[in-house]
Amino acid sequence: MSANPARVSNENTAVPNDLESWWMPFTANRQFKANPRLLVGAKDMHYTTHDGRQVIDGSAGLWCVNAGHCRKPIVEAIQKQAAEMDFAPTFQMGHPKAFEFASRLAHLAPGDLNHVFFANSGSEAVDTALKIAIAYHRARGEGARTRLIGRERGYHGVGFGGISVGGIVSNRKVFGPLLAGVDHLPHTHSLKDMAFSKGQPDWGTHLADDLERIVTLHDASTIAAVIVEPVAGSTGVLIPPKGYLQKLRQICDKHGILLIFDEVITGFGRTGAAFGAETFGVIPDMMTTAKGLTNAAVPAAAVFTRKHVHDAFMSGPENMIELFHGYTYSAHALACAAGIATLDLYRDEGIFENAKALAPYWEDAVHSLKGVKNVIDLRNIGIMAGIEMAPREDGAGKRGYEVFVKAYEKGLMARLTGDTIALSPPLILTRKHIDDIFGILKDAIQSVN
Ligand SMILES: Cc1ncc(COP(=O)(O)O)c(C=O)c1O
Repeated sequence: MSANPARVSNENTAVPNDLESWWMPFTANRQFKANPRLLVGAKDMHYTTHDGRQVIDGSAGLWCVNAGHCRKPIVEAIQKQAAEMDFAPTFQMGHPKAFEFASRLAHLAPGDLNHVFFANSGSEAVDTALKIAIAYHRARGEGARTRLIGRERGYHGVGFGGISVGGIVSNRKVFGPLLAGVDHLPHTHSLKDMAFSKGQPDWGTHLADDLERIVTLHDASTIAAVIVEPVAGSTGVLIPPKGYLQKLRQICDKHGILLIFDEVITGFGRTGAAFGAETFGVIPDMMTTAKGLTNAAVPAAAVFTRKHVHDAFMSGPENMIELFHGYTYSAHALACAAGIATLDLYRDEGIFENAKALAPYWEDAVHSLKGVKNVIDLRNIGIMAGIEMAPREDGAGKRGYEVFVKAYEKGLMARLTGDTIALSPPLILTRKHIDDIFGILKDAIQSVN
């Protein structure tokens, strides 16, 4: 074997012999390549690793494989579509499955979120929604409303729009001045006031009032939209305080500001209903989704808009393009086929209902880790959880990383953010899977200093 740890022999193994070429996303490339973790197969609740182990998928891939892996109806729909029509342009052209998928989605969405704009990733969905918000106000004669309000610890993907409204310092600090005219609400996490809350914390509703301060500072006439994740996923599963999202809705309504929910993680059953908007009883003006939209089998994203947002664009000469925006792969034929098959599976197998029914058992399992060494907070909603551990003196994130690696070695794939382990398994799980996930995780936490 070469002295270079990034070069691993592939004799009698599935590990490629050159790990050098692929510059991996959101990865400590040198650390990873010295000790790679490769996945080579997946079925339902499990991955197969390159060394032949079965690992339970505690994170639904990246919060996306909600119906479980390699589901036959989705696989077959993709295969059929690829053979029938691989690609069709969607600029001044269309194809039947795009219309079918959009109308199925519109029926699934709450309230009058009944128009759908397709993109390919959560990041693109976010940029699309932000652009629609600004153009919406202009279409109504309020062109000065261009300011966008995000939130600290928010994650909205990695486009310039998303990182501008996002609130994760490492995703922002090396990329220059970002979008102009952006402000941020405070995040809603306080260990002191809400540690070990079950479901929505009682404390923190007042944090929504900060939007009034921002409105006073900039004047409502300059503000286009507020964007938040109903549950902040990527920064460690931060559950919204009771009444917080309602308050944001009220303040936005009062000042004519659009409210955008980024439901890229919370969409498609994760919180125990089709969308977080339903779980929390707040209808935003727009909703960004991706991930579970196609069960992640084909990359796709969808921005849902309420009727009044869509209709604001439908004036002027009918030969005019109403929105100068779109992607070559918007409503890709394979994505639409996969998406329709995914929606069928969600409905036919009652997958969101399964998530809702198991949520209390999940909550008990999460909170059974109270008292385990180094655990300083446990957070849950639907079938998602954050397990926060105290940072170690040798550096923030080091304990979390060791737990993550130990868990993987013991048979559980989880997500890691700093010293928080995030869990969001496929929603086809059973009580036995929940027991397995928390059994392995507890062992892993206990085995790390
Ligand atoms: C809330 C939220 N928005 C946007 C994104 C970005 O999605 P993508 O990675 O598909 O661009 C993510 C990804 O995790 C997300 O969690």
